[in-house]
Amino acid sequence: MTSFKLRFHHLATLAGLASLAPLALHGEVNFEKQIFPFMQKKCVDCHAAPHEVNGKKKEPKAELRLDAAFAILKGSKNGKIITPKASDKSRLYEVITLPEDDDDAMPPKGKADALTAAEKTLIKQWIDEGANFGTWEGNPVGKPADPNARPVVDVKREHIDFYKALEQGVKPASEDAIKKAKAAGAQVSTISVTSPLLRVDFLTGVSACTDEKVAALLPLAENIAQIDLGRTAITDGALATVAKFPRLARLDLRQTKITDKGIQSLTKLTKLQSLNLYGTEVGDSGLATLASIKGLKTVYAWQSKATDAGASKLKAALPKVEVTIK
Ligand code: HEC
Repeated sequence: MTSFKLRFHHLATLAGLASLAPLALHGEVNFEKQIFPFMQKKCVDCHAAPHEVNGKKKEPKAELRLDAAFAILKGSKNGKIITPKASDKSRLYEVITLPEDDDDAMPPKGKADALTAAEKTLIKQWIDEGANFGTWEGNPVGKPADPNARPVVDVKREHIDFYKALEQGVKPASEDAIKKAKAAGAQVSTISVTSPLLRVDFLTGVSACTDEKVAALLPLAENIAQIDLGRTAITDGALATVAKFPRLARLDLRQTKITDKGIQSLTKLTKLQSLNLYGTEVGDSGLATLASIKGLKTVYAWQSKATDAGASKLKAALPKVEVTIK
């Protein structure tokens, strides 16, 4: 790659972006409708959130994700790719207008359909109008939490105290039990250097992770505090196993086939604090079931079947809970 990539770095601050009031002019480019569809076809394969392809983890090229507004604003490993109102100072526009044989030209020659002249013009116009995403947010995975949502210090302190209490009387997991879990495809690590509590995920083989594989974690039941089953092939059956992890505090079920029925098993998880239901079939009745988990703090149910009414009901039952459904 060439070395002039950093040159626009300092120009596009978020403050600069915020000051660009969206003048809803007629003829303004609509990112979601006019740009994202072709970017999704021609760019996002290589520039998406980490995901699995044929059992292999795929990271976004140049650490650049083009599948979410926050990520496009964040830029690549080299910094910002957009300077609002200045396409000529925007790396994004630069790489799509380089000669197709240039090493930096996007999409790389032969790897995806080239952008048409009209598509390039749309990107140029969109940047020059202020790089406005409208209401489009895209894939929320990895989006940093709002730093103003809660005092950070309290959260940390609370967090440390919570896990200290949780590990009381817990023995480190046996080598044998960890071996069995790994044989089932799980990645197992302790939540901190000295803790006997474990974090488990199946990120190196999400599609191979089934209800049976989750059942292989039972010998670790006393130790598991966090488990990521997102995008795996599990069904409600796996949640009967998960319900036997008495110290489970974080549970990620995003984009799985679980339903309201499976959620019923979770009421046994009295330590559960955070639950991710993004992109599942879970609806309001599932949310209602959660009202009995008093320590619950966050429920992420974006693109599930849950509605505003269901979220409000849960908040009424558990005033401290944060429910995200949009
Ligand atoms: C086949 C995979 C692939 C596709 C498709 C692809 N890219 Fe890339 N992109 C890359 C790679 C690889 C790099 C990094 C090159 C390097 O660092 O040597 C990159 C880098 C970039 C960068 C530069 C980041 C920087 O800071 O220099 C931008 C911007 C970019 N791509 C935008 C796009 C856009 C827009 C599209 C669609 C029109 C696209 N890419 C399609 C693989 C791809």
